[in-house]
Amino acid sequence: MELGWHENVSTPALVIDYNKLVKNIETMANFAKENKVNLRPHIKTHKCPKVGQMQLEAGAIGICVATIGEAEVFTEKGFNDILIANEVVEINKMKRLIEINKKILVRVCVDSKKNVNNLSKLANKENVKLEVLIDIDVGLGRTGVKPGEPVLELAKFIKELTNLELVGFMGYEGHLTYLTDFENKKQQTKLCMKMLVDTRDLLNENGFEIEYITTSGSGTYMIAGRYPGITEIQPGTYPFFDEHMSKCVPDFEIALTILATINNQTGKKNFTLDMGSKACSTADGKPIFKDYPKSKMTLLTEEHGQFKAGKDDSFEIGQKVELIPGHVCPTVNLYDFFNVIKDYELIDKWEISARGKNY
Ligand SMILES: Cc1ncc(COP(=O)(O)O)c(C=O)c1O
Repeated sequence: MELGWHENVSTPALVIDYNKLVKNIETMANFAKENKVNLRPHIKTHKCPKVGQMQLEAGAIGICVATIGEAEVFTEKGFNDILIANEVVEINKMKRLIEINKKILVRVCVDSKKNVNNLSKLANKENVKLEVLIDIDVGLGRTGVKPGEPVLELAKFIKELTNLELVGFMGYEGHLTYLTDFENKKQQTKLCMKMLVDTRDLLNENGFEIEYITTSGSGTYMIAGRYPGITEIQPGTYPFFDEHMSKCVPDFEIALTILATINNQTGKKNFTLDMGSKACSTADGKPIFKDYPKSKMTLLTEEHGQFKAGKDDSFEIGQKVELIPGHVCPTVNLYDFFNVIKDYELIDKWEISARGKNY
């Protein structure tokens, strides 16, 4: 491991390998170009306008966000085409949505009559037109209307409301992301895509003109993005990737690590890092060591991460090590900025401007 850049970084810290990040962004952008599908990356993974800008420069047509707070930050930073890939229901958040809508093209997902009614009233009051997408539950069971007739019913309801326009559908097959048997994943993803396309046909037979269907993530994009009728993919994790995702999808390199320092030795093979649960999410498993696969994290408490060294691994107090988080998205949300490393040099620090904007 080249150590030069480590000296300039206080730990625990997030580290981006710039060359790998660029490669990951290009890989997805090239897929979208080759398959003639629009790419709208979900920024919930990086929450960083600088990375979002790189995605746009590579060919993305806009971005997805999960929260109003993220949408506000990215609007402020000059992004002008945002899909809120989620429902906005709470009254203050609906008002903030309308304010964003006055500045840029922002679209929002809907899945209930009550919500669209309230959105319509607010849009009417503020004299703006709001574009909405019906969120269709393709099996994740988290949000969305069931495909087919329930979507038609909601679409007819929206048609009667003022100041709202139905422009498309969103369906997210997140329950298939981590399937490791590719043939099984392919079959199941295609079934989800069929639900979306069949529902589009049903609506169009009933006088609607729906073309826009946005879907998918980093685990299934290669199937969804090739499915006839799908017009847009919205993957999030691909710029960084993580331990969990890389077990299921081989297309991307791990471009983000946590740099930590060994603070203590508590036994012959037992050490403690300055990286605990406040610096690394364990939502999808404990982090792993980038250069020492046989060394294992045993316990993460708030500011401490205990590990057992692998049989042939040796460590010393003060040594810096890199770890790969189990799930990158909630880990990024814990930090203020990324340290950007290129060719073993610290070249920049990028603000994670939308960290903590969960509201
Ligand atoms: C609605 C929606 N779309 C897209 C994504 C991106 O998925 P991934 O991070 O697997 O690329 C997510 C992730 O949570 C999501 O919730």
